[in-house]
Amino acid sequence: MQIKELLKQSPSEQEVTVKGWVRTKRGQAAVTFIAINDGSTIHNIQAVAEGGLIDEETLKLVSTGACVAVTGKLIASMGSGQAVEVKAEKIVVYGNADETFPMQPKKHSMEFLREKAHLRFRTNTFGAIFRIRHVLAFAVHKYFNDNGFFNLHTPIITASDAEGAGEMFHVTNFDMEKPPKGEDGNIDYSQDFFGRKTSLTVSGQLEGELGALALSKIYTFGPTFRAENSNTTRHLAEFWMIEPEVAFYELEDNMALAEDFVQTVIKYALENCADDLAFLEKRLLEEEKSKPQNERSELSLIDKLKFVIENQFQRLTYTEAIEILVRSKPHKEKKFQYPVEWGIDLQSEHERYLVEKHFKKPVILTNYPKDIKAFYMKLDDDNKTVRAMDVLFPGIGEIIGGSQREDDYEKLLARTKEVGIDPENIWWYLETRKFGSAPHAGFGLGFERLVLFVTGMTNIRDVIPFPRTPKSAEF
Ligand code: 4AD
Ligand code: MG
Repeated sequence: MQIKELLKQSPSEQEVTVKGWVRTKRGQAAVTFIAINDGSTIHNIQAVAEGGLIDEETLKLVSTGACVAVTGKLIASMGSGQAVEVKAEKIVVYGNADETFPMQPKKHSMEFLREKAHLRFRTNTFGAIFRIRHVLAFAVHKYFNDNGFFNLHTPIITASDAEGAGEMFHVTNFDMEKPPKGEDGNIDYSQDFFGRKTSLTVSGQLEGELGALALSKIYTFGPTFRAENSNTTRHLAEFWMIEPEVAFYELEDNMALAEDFVQTVIKYALENCADDLAFLEKRLLEEEKSKPQNERSELSLIDKLKFVIENQFQRLTYTEAIEILVRSKPHKEKKFQYPVEWGIDLQSEHERYLVEKHFKKPVILTNYPKDIKAFYMKLDDDNKTVRAMDVLFPGIGEIIGGSQREDDYEKLLARTKEVGIDPENIWWYLETRKFGSAPHAGFGLGFERLVLFVTGMTNIRDVIPFPRTPKSAEF
C-alpha cells in the first residue's frame, strides 16, 4: 500500500506491507525506529522493529538510503508526529546503501544536490517540488479541457524561428566532421535529413495558430529549446511551455484568459498540495531567518499564493510603465543598472520594481514598441506599438508573454520582410491570413517559472528534474 494511503488508515492490527526508501534509522538493540518514504507523500511511515523479531544481519542492512519492504501490523503510534506505525515482523532489503550514500539526513546545499540530480528526488524538498510540478501540469490540462480547448501537439523539429531571435539548436544527421558542401563552399542543407536546415523549436505558436484558425481554441504543452547563453536563475536551454491560442480573441480577452488561467492552476495547487506547500513554506521561513530583515519577504509562501489568486492583476501599457519608472526613486538616484527611456527592452530590475515595489501585485504590461517584439504581433494604429502583453510576477519577472496576432496579410508580410525573415520560409503561416483570416490571440507560459513561483524556490534548475543549461547536460 502507498504510504499516503496507509497514513489515512485507522489502526486495527491489520497486516500491511510498506515498500520504500529508508530516510532514517534510530534506536538501539531493544527497539529500532525506521522512517520510510515511498514518494507518495512528504510524510514518512515509521516501522518499529523490536529486538529479536528481526534478525541482526537484516537490521544492519537497513540504513539511510536502503530500499526495503516491511511487513507487519498497523498499530496506533506511541510516538508523537504520526497516528499509525508498522510493527515490523518481516523486513526484506531490496537494496542496501552504505554510508557513502550522499542524501544523508542533514542539510545539503542546492548546488550539491544539483550535482546529485539522480538522487535528489529522495529528499523531502525535491519530493515536494516534483509532486507539485505534477499537480500543476495536471491542472493545466484540466483548465483547458474544462474550458473547451483542444490540446495540439506541435512539432519539436522545425525549419522556422518563431521568435526570430536566432537562438536555435540545429538538428542534423550530417557527419559534423565532413558535411557536404555546395559550389559556394557553404554547407549544402538540401542533402540533410529533411532537405533543409532544421532546428529544435523555440515555440509551438506558429503551428498553434494554424490549429486555432480551425478548432478555435487550442493549447500546446511541450518542450521548447533556446540556445541563449543566459546563465541566470530564470533561464533554461530546455523548458516546457504552455501556449493557448484562440480565434476571435483580442488583447483584452487574452489578458483575461491569462489571469484566470494562472489563478485557477495556482488555486488547484493550493487545494491539492497542502502538505507539500506547508513543508516548503517552513523550509523558506528557515532560509529567511539567515537573511537581513529588509530582504525578507513580507508574505509567507501560502499567503503569497493566496494573494495572487485573490487580487486582480494590474494592467497598464508599456508607455505608462516607462513613465512610472522615469519618475521612480531608483531611476532618479541612478540605482538602476540599465537606463530607462521609451523604446528600451525592460530589464528584470525594471520589471521587479513595478511588480514588487510600485504595484505590489502581478502586472500585465501591454502595447510594447514593435521593435522589441516579435514580427507576428498585431500593429497598433499608431504604427509604433504592438498588441503585446507580458505578465510579470513578484520574484519571477516575466512569467507569460503573448499578444494579439497580426491578421492582416499585407501588414504581416511587410513586418516579415522588415525583420529579415524570408516569407518563403513561412508561406504556410502567411497563407492563413489569405484564407478566412480572423482576429486571434494567445500567449506562452513558461511552466518552470510557474513551478518556481508556486514552490517558492529561487533557482529554475531546481524545479525541472534534469536541467539543461549552458555547459551542463550531465544526467
Ligand atoms: O515570451 P516568450 O519568448 O514568448 C513566446 O515564445 C511566444 N511564442 C508565446 C506565445 O505567444 N504563444 O516565451 C514565453 C514564456 C516566457 O514568458 C517565460 O515564462 C518562458 O516562456 N521562457 C523561459 N523559461 C525558461 N527558460 C527560458 N530560457 C525561457 N524563455 C522564455
Ligand atoms: Mg517574452
